[in-house]
Amino acid sequence: MDNIEQILNWYLTAGVDEICADTPCDALKPAVPPQNNVSSNSAAVPTANVARQAVSDLSQINVVACKNAEEICQKAQTLDDLRAMTEDFDGCSLKFSANSTVFGYGNPQAEVMLIGEAPGADEDRLGEPFVGRSGHLLDKMLAAIELKREDCYITNILPWRPPGNRTPTSEEVAVCLPFLKRQIELIKPKIIFILGRSAANALLDNADSISSLRGHFIDYTSAQGTVIPTLSSFHPAYLLRTASQKSKSWADLLRLKHKLSEL
Ligand code: URA
Repeated sequence: MDNIEQILNWYLTAGVDEICADTPCDALKPAVPPQNNVSSNSAAVPTANVARQAVSDLSQINVVACKNAEEICQKAQTLDDLRAMTEDFDGCSLKFSANSTVFGYGNPQAEVMLIGEAPGADEDRLGEPFVGRSGHLLDKMLAAIELKREDCYITNILPWRPPGNRTPTSEEVAVCLPFLKRQIELIKPKIIFILGRSAANALLDNADSISSLRGHFIDYTSAQGTVIPTLSSFHPAYLLRTASQKSKSWADLLRLKHKLSEL
């Protein structure tokens, strides 16, 4: 038994974090959700490698699935309601290949909300956002401006891990966005810190590069008309690969700290 655990740990360390079947599969193809599920029948079929476009510009996203998600989310009066509704939601096929629904974590009264892209392998295993290598770097980044992850509210655009950590399709983003937006309405943060381009493009509804989005505040206006300043910056996973950008990330963290002191 010990031996098996050691072997599995060896594979994990080597980056093999998924069990594959004998026959190859297309990780971009959605898992088939249960037949009797009404919402899943109306879910969009993801299209691979769609060129970047703002989410609202996409004509091919499934309007019915998104409307369904919006209606469900509006019924959630508390974060616990929303968590349960997210876990029950069958309209995004990613749910059927993921091990856990990774809902937001942290202080429900947080002033700072952090938004990443999607759970990775560690998050999928442990059911909590940013607990892997990126999460450890994120903790250090927060500590550098005297914040703790418990003080913040940390979530992702998607609550389910895309197979093999592939970039989420625009359809997957669109159908999960109402759950993120409702979390924002319920938390009412004073500032949103967005980690990486995918999350920034999804929330701000644009297709701009992270280099052009980072470094300055951009207002996000909720459906209820609440205006919240957002600051986008590099994703910690990118910083782990590109240490040369850490100075810009540090400048963004100082901007965040300064803005918080003004509020
Ligand atoms: N990357 C993300 O964007 N989110 C996580 O939760 C983990 C890694």
